[in-house]
Amino acid sequence: MSRTPTTLDLPALVTDPATRIVVCCGSGGVGKTTTAAALAVHAAEAGRSVVVLTIDPARRLAQSLGVGELDNTPRTVPGVGAGGGRLDAMMLDMKRTFDDVVHAHADPQRAAQIIANPFYQSVSSSFAGTQEYMAMEKLGQLRAEADRTGRWDLIVVDTPPSRSALDFLDAPKRLGSFLDGRFVRLLAAPAKVGGRASVKALAGGVAVATKVLDKLLGAQLLRDVQTFVAALDTMFGGFRERADATYALLSEPGTAFLVVAAPERDALREARYFVERLAHDQMPLAGLVLNRVAQPGPIGVDRALGAALQLTDGEESGAAERAAAAALRLQASVGALAARHRAALRGFAAAHPGVPVAVVAAAPTDVHDLEGLRQILR
Ligand SMILES: Nc1ncnc2c1ncn2[C@@H]1O[C@H](COP(=O)(O)OP(=O)(O)OP(=O)(O)O)[C@@H](O)[C@H]1O
Ligand SMILES: [Mg+2]
Repeated sequence: MSRTPTTLDLPALVTDPATRIVVCCGSGGVGKTTTAAALAVHAAEAGRSVVVLTIDPARRLAQSLGVGELDNTPRTVPGVGAGGGRLDAMMLDMKRTFDDVVHAHADPQRAAQIIANPFYQSVSSSFAGTQEYMAMEKLGQLRAEADRTGRWDLIVVDTPPSRSALDFLDAPKRLGSFLDGRFVRLLAAPAKVGGRASVKALAGGVAVATKVLDKLLGAQLLRDVQTFVAALDTMFGGFRERADATYALLSEPGTAFLVVAAPERDALREARYFVERLAHDQMPLAGLVLNRVAQPGPIGVDRALGAALQLTDGEESGAAERAAAAALRLQASVGALAARHRAALRGFAAAHPGVPVAVVAAAPTDVHDLEGLRQILR
């Protein structure tokens, strides 16, 4: 049975003053960054004050927005939002965000010591889930600033290319359980002796464990780990509370999750997983963005192929006929692709009849400037 899904009106969504946060998620390479930027540009040009938080190490977006570079500080994008709106953009720099947290929680000398620590360096740049967590941490910070200063009325969030939805939604919990983990507590304890009373009480047992670890890891590495973990404990003080607050922010009705997907069967299977996961966590899903959908040409596939055959059939077919036939065959293949995309969409709609869908046409080329971003929503 085929179904027509409800249409998701993206321009209406991002210009609605009730929409305060938009999160674009989805699997790798489907157009999350592009969609986030296009939505942000549209909202800013409709008069809203928007900040877009992107995660785009390839820096394609900075180029599209016509800004030299994007970093951890939101910067105003020139040439957007003449009608009273404004667009600020920033790119999440995970290492920098981590470092900023260290600086905020330790005196300068101690901060320098921690940042130079090799264990800190490897963990801050590669610990699984840190990027997802940091994106959420940053979102919390942006929202706090928006509430305090009124600088933005819409925050658009891009998400990192995660292997699965779990990475994204589980990040706060996972980093939390890492910090709460007994192994970590044990490692942290010796560095804190003389600090907390509860830690002192543990000191006997810890000394034994430390000796074992010392043998296993080597003294220098152990000290590095201890320094780092003690620092983590300082800098993520109140971590759970913040993670919970951000999670609550995400579940508010003012938040709109968009699952971005490519219009292929496999990609949509992954998208369904995102949709189900968001539903399971009772996150406000606004809908699916089916990106880069092929548009059927003016002539049907069979007719185009038939005409191509006729053109090259006779003895007398020359260069002009062959060129025309090639063009017709090309059109037929795009038409076939478009049909496949439509079938994939129907499959999704049948499985999730309640999820609105926005179809975004494939632009003829990759998006590389503001005009390209504007075209996305047209
Ligand atoms: N509708 C579209 N038409 C044409 N090109 C598009 C469209 N959407 C995205 N692209 C292009 O596809 C490429 C990937 O897009 P994008 O970087 O937004 O994906 P992503 O999901 O953020 O990727 P990653 O998971 O690596 O972060 C870019 O070169 C972009 O210009
Ligand atoms: Mg991206």
